[in-house]
Amino acid sequence: MDKFIIRSGKKLNGKIIVSGAKNSSLALMPATLLNSGINTIQNTPEVNDVYTMIKLLKQLGVESEFFNHELKLNTSNISSQVAPYELVKKMRASVYVLGPLLSRYGYAKVSMPGGCAWGPRPINLHLEAMKKLGAEIILEEGYIIAKAKKLHGTKIHLDVSSVGATGNTLMAAVLAKGTTLLTNAAIEPEIILLAEYLNLMGAKIFGIGTTSLEIEGQDQLSPEAIVNIPDRIEAGTLLIAGAITNSKISLDNINISHLDSLLVKLEDTGVKVSYDNNILTIDANDIRFKSVDVTTAVYPGFPTDMQAQWTAYMTLANGISTVTDSIYTDRFNHVPELNRMGANIELINNGAVIKGVEKLKGAKVMSTDLRASACLVLAGLAAEGSTEVLRIYHLDRGYQRIEEKLRMLGADIERVATTEF
Ligand code: EPU
Repeated sequence: MDKFIIRSGKKLNGKIIVSGAKNSSLALMPATLLNSGINTIQNTPEVNDVYTMIKLLKQLGVESEFFNHELKLNTSNISSQVAPYELVKKMRASVYVLGPLLSRYGYAKVSMPGGCAWGPRPINLHLEAMKKLGAEIILEEGYIIAKAKKLHGTKIHLDVSSVGATGNTLMAAVLAKGTTLLTNAAIEPEIILLAEYLNLMGAKIFGIGTTSLEIEGQDQLSPEAIVNIPDRIEAGTLLIAGAITNSKISLDNINISHLDSLLVKLEDTGVKVSYDNNILTIDANDIRFKSVDVTTAVYPGFPTDMQAQWTAYMTLANGISTVTDSIYTDRFNHVPELNRMGANIELINNGAVIKGVEKLKGAKVMSTDLRASACLVLAGLAAEGSTEVLRIYHLDRGYQRIEEKLRMLGADIERVATTEF
């Protein structure tokens, strides 16, 4: 088990290359189950969720090679359609194998993901979509068993614009017989990339980038290569590291349009944002940043995956702000930990009311989930004294060695092995 020790007082400075996106990798990788052969995904981040997905795919018979961010997946010898509890419990995105296994092999047995650190995260929409496509779904001993001789195109409307349900439905419908119309589909960049990848493989998905997708089922798909998009949440986390420490930092390998909602809010706090030659720079030198409210929403709204980091930022802002999460209403486990560092945050319904304080004070704090861990690291960078962030295995699921990136910017942060839990 590792922890971070962060000593404060350093301004950051410099340029960092952002890694490939975790959440698109977790969709692109299972999509390869739809073909037979060698697929290549470039710009894949070296994060633990990617390694968990590699293990899960290996269990199904997929051979992999992962070197220098290039992931090769050979799907020629699929030997199992079972996603076991031991892997699914580690990562909910494992449920992404359901759609491709069912549509290609007519059978999938996938452990039901449990709750998560911030409450229930149902998969009812995934299962309803599979049923609409003609699958028989049985829930048995904690497993979803899905069967269908052949899936059939149909009309599916998602009651909630779900990233995962859109991805799973796409991966099932591309090999169904006939045409599927999927409405209220998610338009997150990671889902757009998945749809583009499926089309490269030979799928026929129309309307990519809109909430209404038409999918003409094909008999088979072929292996393909794709370049993954940059991680907009890692980029956002690093930007707030710069802002909260009153620094000037730059990011390379970003897609600026994916960051619109965050950049507008950052500018509202008083930070200067510029973009030149594909390099994004924020300058927060010599400002007392202002309090700015945010409410999370589906893309292109403010991402729920940036909510905890924004909350950390607002603890030191001038004034009172509210942060409301409309996607995951209970995703606030970081708040008591921030308050232990001297923040003044009150939780009311699904929102945090944050009264900005002059300073945070270093303390020993505990990560409870991926983005909460990132939030505590950000608070530690700005706090007086020394902060220890425990249980950073959560952080390692989705950030590629963030301490090295922060150290390159001049932060005083080290990873230390510990028996503390
Ligand atoms: N929902 C349902 N039923 C379903 C599916 C979702 O009610 O069957 C609800 C959820 O409870 C939630 C909303 O729909 O209120 C949106 O959930 P969504 O399905 O879009 O989330 P997800 O696909 O499980 C992905 C990301 C999350 C990110 C969310 C929202 C991946 C692997 N995960 O999860 O990323 O928070 O979309 O943008 O893509 C993270 O990276 O830290 C993370 C949690």
